[in-house]
Amino acid sequence: MDYRQLGSTGTRVSELCFGTWRFGRRTSGVLETDESDAHELLDAFADAGGNFIDSANVYGDPNGTSESYIGSWLADRDRADFVITSKVYFGFDDENPNGSGLSRTHIRNQIDGTLERLGTDYLDLYYIHRWDEQTPIEETLSALDRLVEEGKVNYLGASTMAAWQLMKALWKSDGNDYERFEVTQPLFHAGYYKDVEEYLSVCADQDLAVCPYSPLAGGFLTGKYTRDDPDDPKSVRAPDGSRGSFDDRFERFYLSERGWKVLDEIRAVADEVDATPAQVSLRWLMDQQAFTCIPIIGARTVGQLDENVAAADVSISREQHDRITDARFDEEGRRWGH
Ligand SMILES: NC(=O)c1ccc[n+]([C@@H]2O[C@H](COP(=O)([O-])OP(=O)(O)OC[C@H]3O[C@@H](n4cnc5c(N)ncnc54)[C@H](OP(=O)(O)O)[C@@H]3O)[C@@H](O)[C@H]2O)c1
Repeated sequence: MDYRQLGSTGTRVSELCFGTWRFGRRTSGVLETDESDAHELLDAFADAGGNFIDSANVYGDPNGTSESYIGSWLADRDRADFVITSKVYFGFDDENPNGSGLSRTHIRNQIDGTLERLGTDYLDLYYIHRWDEQTPIEETLSALDRLVEEGKVNYLGASTMAAWQLMKALWKSDGNDYERFEVTQPLFHAGYYKDVEEYLSVCADQDLAVCPYSPLAGGFLTGKYTRDDPDDPKSVRAPDGSRGSFDDRFERFYLSERGWKVLDEIRAVADEVDATPAQVSLRWLMDQQAFTCIPIIGARTVGQLDENVAAADVSISREQHDRITDARFDEEGRRWGH
């Protein structure tokens, strides 16, 4: 894998980031990735040249399990070889009235636990996982700025939120001379049904790196799901053991008429360039021109990881890229319904 500048920071990261959301996670009673599988996946990613690893304090059951798995793996590695992220916002301790959100109290409580579980004294990148309606953004930004000053965090990032919220946070940082968000993490993939264009326009204008999450729509864009009913985009046959077979969120988040149309075009391009739909879907993101785009790949097996990492060696032309982009619209230029 090649390395790219992380937006306008001085740090270089592999052109794909590895996401650890499913480490230690139980969905409908199923433990998705245990510690030994997690280490195998991290080894495969590092062997392929990957240095960029995404986590969050609430990944895994109980919370923090994903960070702990990374920490036990990192213990046998050179910490400086990796760019490690985590996030704060979601409820970590439901009993504690200050156990969630972006207050100074919760941020300061969370960072030390995150560092301890990861077995490190600094994070490369700390994201706010969501926008907190209850806490003034100035309080959040000043708490994060302080973490950078203390050397606990190198860079700041922002995950899903409205474009105006991202812009407001940047404006408040600039006005108060706080560290600003350098990296964003939206849900963004070729078939995404909601409008993220405004948010991405902010990223382009403000030189922020974009690290899309769920870049394969939870596996939908690999082409492994079969449509069951031409009149119902939500009706699908899911392979045994796949995320769509046991995770209720799959249908809600990832299945749409637009998704199927886009997948048809991705399949056509994949045939033309002798690659897989997963690789073309990732390439479509990596080739975004308006901003540095570093997809956060998920993988449950080393085979999936190897396939996804090989997207780094796939090329698609601008014409093929645009065909995938245009597949989101019908003949009259309207977006396909959800
Ligand atoms: N900021 C946020 O709010 C947020 C939210 C979600 C995720 N994230 C981050 O983004 C990362 C990636 O998200 P994601 O897991 O949803 O990504 P994704 O790439 O859209 O989906 C990954 C899943 O698709 C299937 N898959 C992946 N590659 C495949 C292949 N080559 N062939 C067949 N199946 C394949 C696997 O599931 P099965 O084999 O089980 O079907 C895998 O677990 C997370 O780990 C996390 O770090 C962040």
